[in-house]
Amino acid sequence: MNKKTVATILDKKRKSEKITMLTCYDYVAARLISSQDIDMLLVGDSLGNVKLGYENTLPVTVDDMVYHTKAVKRGNAGAVLVTDMPFMSYESSVEEAIKNAGRIIKEGGAEAVKIEGGIEIEGQVKAIVNAKVPVVGHLGLTPQAINIFGGFKVQGRTQEAHDRLISDAKALEKAGAFAVVLEAVPERLAKEVTETLNIPTIGIGAGRYCDGQVLVVDDMLGMFTDFTPKFVKRYANLDEIIAAAVKSYVDEVKEGKFPKEENTYE
Ligand code: KIV
Repeated sequence: MNKKTVATILDKKRKSEKITMLTCYDYVAARLISSQDIDMLLVGDSLGNVKLGYENTLPVTVDDMVYHTKAVKRGNAGAVLVTDMPFMSYESSVEEAIKNAGRIIKEGGAEAVKIEGGIEIEGQVKAIVNAKVPVVGHLGLTPQAINIFGGFKVQGRTQEAHDRLISDAKALEKAGAFAVVLEAVPERLAKEVTETLNIPTIGIGAGRYCDGQVLVVDDMLGMFTDFTPKFVKRYANLDEIIAAAVKSYVDEVKEGKFPKEENTYE
């Protein structure tokens, strides 16, 4: 499979070809997902929810992100590998942002980092790009700001919030980001951002007109069912398949039906 790069992603916007992205957190999933010609794998800090069982993404550390990125890297066939910068790994200073982005690239093997926020982190984005690390922005419902938003609510509904999001998107593009994730914003606003920017928009709960789409893989496969936002489409119900398989195993072991002769050594 041909290796995709940041240039491939930019080219797709120019050719009006849709960009595909899914989150991914381990080696087996990386092998399965990247075998399907996906453009980008995101080691999202959503791993805090779906892999580590935290209530939100705030406790996730740079070490967590490096650990999961290494595993995904080993299974990735050709997608652009993007890793989230977790909460408090870039906010305090430009130096801290460069240091942590560097760890994610050098130790984890990611090809780009994703960072939440707009104008307020313009300096960090510029500095990380200057340090030769490609950056994806993230606007709208940025889960690291959960305590400011007071819950998982659609963003950009008021005129002020709408205008602010457009300015944030332009600032990220100017600072050197090569793509922007738009999460939980009205479709009309996402369309306007997509038409305004030269870099691609990747939507999650941002409607049909973004240049690409991303979902949390455990949501779309029906593995993580604690909470399913409206924008998620379930492409499988793996929770039911796994529960049934485990039940069969437990029953068969109890009943002495497993292992059979073909599962044993002479
Ligand atoms: O952490 C994550 O999975 C994300 C996606 C929701 C875009 O940021």
